[in-house]
Amino acid sequence: MNPPNPINLIQERYGIRAFDPERWNETLTALLSHRSVRAYLPDPLPPHTLETLVAAAQSAATSSNLQTWSVVAIADPTRKDTLAQLAGNQAHIRQCPLFLVWLTDLARLHQLASQRGLPAEGLDYLEMFLTATVDAALAAQNATVAAKSLGLGTVYIGGMRNHPEQVAETLQLPPHLFAVFGLCVGYPDPAKPAAIKPRLPQAAVLHHETYNIAQQEGAIAQYNEIMQQFYQSQQMNVTGDWVEHSLKRVATGQALSGRDRLKEILQRLGFPLR
Ligand SMILES: Cc1cc2nc3c(=O)[nH]c(=O)nc-3n(C[C@H](O)[C@H](O)[C@H](O)COP(=O)(O)O)c2cc1C
Repeated sequence: MNPPNPINLIQERYGIRAFDPERWNETLTALLSHRSVRAYLPDPLPPHTLETLVAAAQSAATSSNLQTWSVVAIADPTRKDTLAQLAGNQAHIRQCPLFLVWLTDLARLHQLASQRGLPAEGLDYLEMFLTATVDAALAAQNATVAAKSLGLGTVYIGGMRNHPEQVAETLQLPPHLFAVFGLCVGYPDPAKPAAIKPRLPQAAVLHHETYNIAQQEGAIAQYNEIMQQFYQSQQMNVTGDWVEHSLKRVATGQALSGRDRLKEILQRLGFPLR
């Protein structure tokens, strides 16, 4: 594996030497060397690691300082096993010493409104669900970067949304709470190292002044080739190129692994989404 210098990290991130940065620092090294970790050592985390991760999470920006998110920390093997099954039997949830479930939390403001006898009609709108979910994601990403800085690995688990009601039951969530995603946390197993996965060329995602969908055609063709090489180098059994693989993921409602029912489930969990 290449040592983590800026040029190598950019080359790994894009699969080509996209540009040579003028300025660099340790934070950029940490961000650009991200990779999801799906194999963990059983080693427990040092004392107060959880609290440190949550402090990093709480340091993220939060819309209007409403702080409409919460997190449930799970170490109990039986509960992790239940959640692993609900997430499509993902073994890394069982294996990691700490599993964090990040919640869109409108329950806190609902409770405060009711305690003070004040209205909270705004909480019924899609806007507030989105605000709280964005806040939860920003918090979780801060925890992810913090975990990496402590030598820990992580992987997000969107599989929490395959069966949101059963997840809510397992975590004893009252109404107005939704498990957006999980996050496995633990020491990466050095016997099964994860690679940096290339991303789309910047020509596909970076627009100047106005958006131009036509500019990405060549970039996507190039990315397909880069990803074919990546799949081969990682011995990943992916059918077709990145475009085909991605389009298969969104071809039908059924392809969403149960999440096609999300709107009605959210309404049952106490989010009217007006
Ligand atoms: C919201 C979210 C949900 C995800 N859900 C899962 C999941 O359920 N299982 C899994 O193994 N990886 C999951 N991932 C990880 C992605 O597959 C991974 O980030 C992506 O393939 C890019 O790879 P990298 O993180 O190694 O760069 C998720 C990532 C995000 C951001």
